[in-house]
Amino acid sequence: MPITTCIFDAYGTLFDVSAAARQAAAEPGRETFAAHWPAIAQNWRLKQLQYTWLRAVTGDHTDFWAVTQDGLDWALEAEGLAGDAELRARLLQLYRELEAYPEVPGMLRALKAAGKATAILSNGEPEMLSAAVQSAGVGTLLDAVLSVESVGVFKPARAVYDMVGAQFGCTNQDVLFVSSNGWDAAAAAGYGFTTAWVNRAGEPEERLPARPHHQLSDLADIPRLASA
Ligand code: LAC
Repeated sequence: MPITTCIFDAYGTLFDVSAAARQAAAEPGRETFAAHWPAIAQNWRLKQLQYTWLRAVTGDHTDFWAVTQDGLDWALEAEGLAGDAELRARLLQLYRELEAYPEVPGMLRALKAAGKATAILSNGEPEMLSAAVQSAGVGTLLDAVLSVESVGVFKPARAVYDMVGAQFGCTNQDVLFVSSNGWDAAAAAGYGFTTAWVNRAGEPEERLPARPHHQLSDLADIPRLASA
């Protein structure tokens, strides 16, 4: 069955989540933060994701902007920088305007030229997704931006992946699902989508029940995969 619909995770897949801390570290006057930023960026992402999974399991849903702030607060405190309110505000501002990876606009343009439907399916809440899509300039290349806020639970709950069929009226066989998160790609494969894991960092494969169908080092090959 040919792929008709290409669905993308947002944070870490289309948008470079480490860009906020990296950019802040390069700003004048941030020497202390510059010495800590890689650990802060790593713990920020780790805690943000852990809080989504834990809240999904316990049923204590809040939106992704709240867990993004909670993860940042944990990461700043772990490095002894919890008291710097200006730094916290700057990092959150930069997170709302994340850069897209350089190959993203060309990749989406190629998919649209090939007649594919394209969408984001993300934990992000609608306003932060809208800000990121706008700052990356890819709004006209996406047919939909789907947020888990419509179902009130984070990935990898099946209710989230159900949103794709509900939006596009497609079957699982029509879908190529693309994520840089190994656990998201594995869960989407278990759900029934054909999946591509964008493994930029060369991480080991997740030990989960299903395995992604494809593994890529960036997004450049997605149009070819979608047309194969
Ligand atoms: C998202 C997170 C998981 O965009 O990266 O859904």
